[in-house]
This record gives sequence, C-alpha cells and structure tokens, in this order.
Amino acid sequence: MPSATDPRAQVAAAAARLEAAGVASPVNDAEILLAHVLGIRRGDLVLATDVPAADAARFEDLVGRRAQRIPLQHLTGTAGFRYVDLAVGPGVFTPRPETELLAGWALERAREVVERVPVVVDLCTGSGAIAASIAHELPGAAVHAVELDPDAFTWAQRNLSGTGVDLREGDMADAFDDLDGLVDVVVCNPPYIPLTAYDGVAAEAREHDPALALFSGEDGLDAMRVLERVAARLLRTGGVVGAEHADLQGTSAPGVFASSGRWVDVRDHHDLAGRPRYLTARLAR
Ligand SMILES: C[S@@+](CC[C@H](N)C(=O)[O-])C[C@H]1O[C@@H](n2cnc3c(N)ncnc32)[C@H](O)[C@@H]1O
Repeated sequence: MPSATDPRAQVAAAAARLEAAGVASPVNDAEILLAHVLGIRRGDLVLATDVPAADAARFEDLVGRRAQRIPLQHLTGTAGFRYVDLAVGPGVFTPRPETELLAGWALERAREVVERVPVVVDLCTGSGAIAASIAHELPGAAVHAVELDPDAFTWAQRNLSGTGVDLREGDMADAFDDLDGLVDVVVCNPPYIPLTAYDGVAAEAREHDPALALFSGEDGLDAMRVLERVAARLLRTGGVVGAEHADLQGTSAPGVFASSGRWVDVRDHHDLAGRPRYLTARLAR
C-alpha cells in the first residue's frame, strides 16, 4: 500500500492487491472499504482529498482481510438490500443483489391484495432481508418469517426488531401451523446448491456463509421439495409462492411444483444477467 495520502492512489493500490487475490470486483470493494473507513458515502469519495494516517492503516488492514476472501459485508458489518441495510457477519448468509428481484416480485403480489391485509411469509429468512424489505416497502402487510439456524436467527432478530415482522425460530417444514390456508404470498430463498457442486462455490461463500444456508442434498432441491409442501399448506386458494434457485435449476426447480399437481401458472424468471433465477406458482386447489 502506498504511503501517499491521496485517496485515488490508495484505491488503485488496494484494487490491484484485491485483483491479484482473485476478488471479483476489486475497484468496487476498495472504494467501499475506503468510504467505510472514512465514514463517508462511496459517492463522496471524489470529494475526499487525503486519507489520515490512522485511517490508511485501518484501510490497509481491511484490504488485507478482503484479500483473504473475507466477504466485503463482514468487513463493513452491513449489507444493503433494496431500501434497507442489514447487519451481517459470521453465522448468517450475506444477502445477494439477485434476491432483490424475488423480494420485488413478492411485494408486487402482496400489493395486489386490496380486500384485506396481505399476509406474507418469508421462509428461510436468514438475516431477515426479504421480510425486512416487505415490511419497509409495504407497512400495511402482515409479515411473518422463520429461520432454523440459531446463529442466523439472532441476526434476524437484530434486523427485524421494530419492523413489526413476526419472526420465529424453527424448521420451515412445520412452521406457522396457525396460518394454514391464510397466506397470500409465500416467498423463500432456500439453500439450493447441490452437495456435488461444493468445489465450485466461491471462497467467500464456502468459508463464510453457513453450510445450512447453501447446500441442499445431492441435486440441491431437498429444501425446494419441502417448500412445495409447506407453501401448499400455508397458502389460500389462488395464493402465490416465489422461490429462488440456482441458475442450472431453471427447469428442475419449477418441475418440483409442476409435477405435484397442486399448482397452476408455474413460471420461471430470469435475473438481470439473463440467468434463470426464481420460480413462481399459484395454488390451484
Ligand atoms: C440462502 S439463505 C437465504 C437467507 C435470506 N432469505 C436471504 O435471501 O438472504 C437460506 C437460509 O435458510 C435457512 N434454512 C435452511 N433450512 C431451513 C429450514 N428447514 N427451515 C428454516 N430455515 C432454513 C438457512 O439457515 C439460511 O439462513
């Protein structure tokens, strides 16, 4: 790292170090870390004229840890998701930008429920990202969320405190029996990576996201099969479910729903990069 206090030189040197370490977005990460250290927004970095020595030392330490592939969000302690900021760190899955699309879909469907208070359930809530977004953007909705992992549950408690979300600790398989047949929208970003794909998972995820958040049986669809049954139990007739899946599951994940005979309008949706990303379906019975 340069001893110069010029922020641009600091970012350039840090980005080169991160790129050499295999970090996918080195300039982005260097800028976010420097802004974090300086206590300013990233967009205001252009206005910064120097980096005080103490901040430069802290920045160098953070860049070194990022070069070890510690997730950026664990270093800043926060992950932005739609319009909310979530506290994240060891023990909880870091919310991903692609999941914002699924949350947006759930919000649109909940907004269509005008004759009563829309009831939304976020299964596998992790940090609480989807539930927090829905509560934030649609304050009139009744939002419920469940998480199995005790560590992740603690993060969700922190993030959902004061939001009005009904958060419960437990297995989605038997969650919310008090809501059977009463739910308008079920949304879920389940674990979906096949156990056989372990070696192909990025270092940040493999070493820092909890295994329970990532892997789901040989074909990655064990949790999807549970979700299919739980969503059928929770939803009203005509209620809808949306679930994220891996980009290689654009046929197999919707197939879990299509083959059960309980669903109509089974569709798959692409993310902004054009990859299959989430399925949606409507309860038929
Ligand atoms: C891929 S993460 C998604 C977290 C969050 N919804 C998000 O999008 O950022 C999956 C989450 O499901 C939780 N989970 C796995 N199996 C579960 C189960 N049977 N019941 C409830 N939660 C479960 C994991 O602990 C993890 O927090």
